[in-house]
Amino acid sequence: MSIIIYSIGLIASFAIAKSILDFLWFYFLRPTNHWQKFLQGPSPYAVVTGATDGIGKATAKELYDKGFNLILHGRSEKKLKDVVEKIQSVKSKSTGQIQDVKCFLEDGSEAGIDFEGIAKKFEGLNVTILVNNVGSFTIRPERFDEWTEEEHMKQIRLNSLFPMFLTRAFLSSLRTTACARPALVVFIGSFSDETPMAKIILYSATKHFVRRLALGLHADERFDTPDDKAVSFMYANLGPVSSQMVREPPSFVRPSSKLFAEKLVGTFGCGRQMVVPYVGHYLMRLTFTTLPEFLVAKMLSTSARGLIEEAIKKSKSQS
Ligand SMILES: NC(=O)c1ccc[n+]([C@@H]2O[C@H](COP(=O)([O-])OP(=O)(O)OC[C@H]3O[C@@H](n4cnc5c(N)ncnc54)[C@H](OP(=O)(O)O)[C@@H]3O)[C@@H](O)[C@H]2O)c1
Ligand SMILES: *[C@@H]1O[C@H](CO)[C@@H](O)[C@H](O)[C@H]1NC(C)=O
Repeated sequence: MSIIIYSIGLIASFAIAKSILDFLWFYFLRPTNHWQKFLQGPSPYAVVTGATDGIGKATAKELYDKGFNLILHGRSEKKLKDVVEKIQSVKSKSTGQIQDVKCFLEDGSEAGIDFEGIAKKFEGLNVTILVNNVGSFTIRPERFDEWTEEEHMKQIRLNSLFPMFLTRAFLSSLRTTACARPALVVFIGSFSDETPMAKIILYSATKHFVRRLALGLHADERFDTPDDKAVSFMYANLGPVSSQMVREPPSFVRPSSKLFAEKLVGTFGCGRQMVVPYVGHYLMRLTFTTLPEFLVAKMLSTSARGLIEEAIKKSKSQS
C-alpha cells in the first residue's frame, strides 16, 4: 500500500516540477532570437494580416525593425497607406536600411475573395513568415438565432476562412521557401477558444477552428516532407491586449500591443506548435485551467457581464 502512495507522490512531484521548470524556461531562460532563422537568404518577407491597428500593426513594426520586408493587409485604404508610410519613415533598427513594404486590401468578412490572386501578386518573393492576425468579434443585444445567416457568415469568414484560404494560397510558395530555409505560419488565437463566453459564441468557435487547423497543418506537412524542410505552423494563444478592440489601458494581465508583439515575435521559431507568448496571460490561464469548471464559468460570466452590457449599450446608441 505504502509503495503505491509513494509512487503516486513521486509521479505527482515530477509533474509539478516539470511544469514549474517549463514555466521558468519558457518565460525567463529560453533564447528569444530564433526569429533570426527566418531572415536567412536573400530578401525575406513577412506577411501580417490586420496590420492597420493593435497587435497586427505592432507585430509589423517589430518585424520591420528586426530586418524583415513586409506584406501588410488591411481593409481601409487610408489606414493602410498611413501605416506603410509611418513604418517606412524610419530605417529598420537592425539593417539600418529602409525595408520594402508592400500591401493588399481586402475586407476579410466578405464572400468571394480571390485568394489565389493575392498570392499571385507577391509571387517570387521569399515569404518566410505569415502571421494570420486579423480577427474580431461583434457584441450585440440580439440572441444567437436572431442574427441573420449572413451576419454569422461574416464572423466565420473573417476569423476562420480568411486565415485558412490565405494560408492555402501562400502554401506552395512557403513550401518552396522551406526547402532552402525555415518558413512559419502563425495563427493568432484567443483564450475564448476554450473558455465559453456569452455573446461571442462564434468568436470562440472560429478561434477553436483555427487552433485545430494550425496543429493539423503542422502534422500534415510532415507527412510528405522531412521535418527540417517542412513549413511550420504555430497557434499563439492570448488573453486581453490593449488595442483598438480592447480600449483599456495596459496592466499586468493586459499588455500593450507593442509589448505583446515583442513577446510574440520572441516565440517565432521556438519549435512549439502552441504558445502563450505573454507571461501575464499564462498565469491568467493557469487559474482557468486549475480552478473547478463551475467556478471559472461563474467568474467569467460575472466579469463578462459588465463588458457585454457596455458593448450592447454602445451598439444600441450607434444604431
Ligand atoms: N486585443 C485583445 O484583447 C485580444 C485578445 C485575444 C485575441 N485577440 C486577437 O488578436 C488579433 C488582433 O486583435 P487586435 O486586438 O489587435 O484588434 P484591433 O486592434 O481591432 O485590430 C484588428 C485589425 O484587423 C483589421 N480588421 C478588422 N476587421 C476586418 C475585416 N472585416 N477585414 C479586414 N480587416 C479587418 C483591422 O482593420 P481596421 O484598422 O480597418 O479596423 C485591424 O487592422 C485578433 O485575431 C483577435 O481576435 C485580441
Ligand atoms: C529567393 O531565394 C532564392 C534562394 O533561396 C533566391 O535564389 C531568389 O533570388 C530569392 N528571390 C528574391 C526575389 O529575392
